[in-house]
Amino acid sequence: MSKLKWLGAGALAVTLASWGAARAPLARGQEPQARGPEQRAGSTTQGNPTEHMTPAEIQSGKLNFQGSCGECHGVDASGGVGPNLHGVVQQHGVQFVFNAIRYGIPGTAMAAVSSLNDKRAWQVVGYLKTLTVAPGSMKVNGDPAKGKDLYTSNGCSMCHEIDGKGGAVGPELTGIGEVRSPKYLEEVLIDPAKNPPADPALPERRMWTGYVLTKVVTKDGKTFVGSRVNEDTFTITLRDMAGNYHTFNKSSLQSVDKEFGKSFMPSFSRLSEAQRNDLVAYLMTLKGAQ
Ligand code: HEC
Ligand code: HEC
Repeated sequence: MSKLKWLGAGALAVTLASWGAARAPLARGQEPQARGPEQRAGSTTQGNPTEHMTPAEIQSGKLNFQGSCGECHGVDASGGVGPNLHGVVQQHGVQFVFNAIRYGIPGTAMAAVSSLNDKRAWQVVGYLKTLTVAPGSMKVNGDPAKGKDLYTSNGCSMCHEIDGKGGAVGPELTGIGEVRSPKYLEEVLIDPAKNPPADPALPERRMWTGYVLTKVVTKDGKTFVGSRVNEDTFTITLRDMAGNYHTFNKSSLQSVDKEFGKSFMPSFSRLSEAQRNDLVAYLMTLKGAQ
């Protein structure tokens, strides 16, 4: 699945520490039923703690969601690095969502969230259950066909690959509509450096935030700018705009500056809102290689 390929590598950086914790309870057999999405909410055998929740408990779930999940799923659960969760309870059931929080979803970027105890985790599920319809900002009202033309005319494919065609300066977009929300995509077009994703095509980068632009100046005065793809005590490797790799011995460098707020990707805020909507509509049609 391209979805796994997409999220797996980059996510390890975030989740490596909690990975062991995510699996340990399963290994000890405390929770025998790690359910797949196809096994619907087992409310008959499991009970369903969300059934009689008070508004105060739901509110507490909301706050815990914002604190523990919002960073990846968006504070309003409309999606970010992690998918939009509106309707997820209706689709997969309460037990699935609870298990996702408790144990993570093995093989994906979704790791167990150990900061919540069972009671709080259930309150988060209770809160998510109230989110049945996507918020207004989620509406995709652009025209995907026009968006596709804009994609071509704005040179996006110079830097991005779709179905094996295009450049590799930025991440592959073949499955972008599956893993990102429209709101997030709109933000990327306006301010690309705001939330740089990890690059799963470069496994060695999993230690680093993807695409951090880094500028080095050598002791003999040469400047290089590229995405930092690797760094250890003695060396740093940058990939430049053309896709070439440059490895430097740190002892030969005058300075190393990470430009966190910058990106190779230009802002497309100069496009009209309607044009950005068209682009987002097109990107949302990209659901992965068939
Ligand atoms: C570090 C980022 C991150 C955090 C924090 C995080 N998630 Fe996730 N979550 C993801 C990603 C990425 C996926 C998609 C996994 C996949 O299918 O590849 C996901 C998937 C899910 C899914 C499955 C969605 C589906 O439709 O299959 C649920 C449910 C979920 N997360 C709930 C939560 C909840 C609730 C929290 C907080 C308690 C949380 N997540 C915290 C990144 C995160
Ligand atoms: C000069 C190279 C370049 C061009 C041109 C470019 N991008 Fe990007 N894009 C990148 C890089 C690099 C990133 C990674 C994040 C960052 O550095 O901001 C990125 C990130 C993205 C992302 C986020 C991907 C993710 O996984 O979250 C999307 C979506 C995207 N670009 C779409 C576009 C579209 C649409 C266009 C054309 C309108 C475009 N890009 C033009 C380099 C480029």
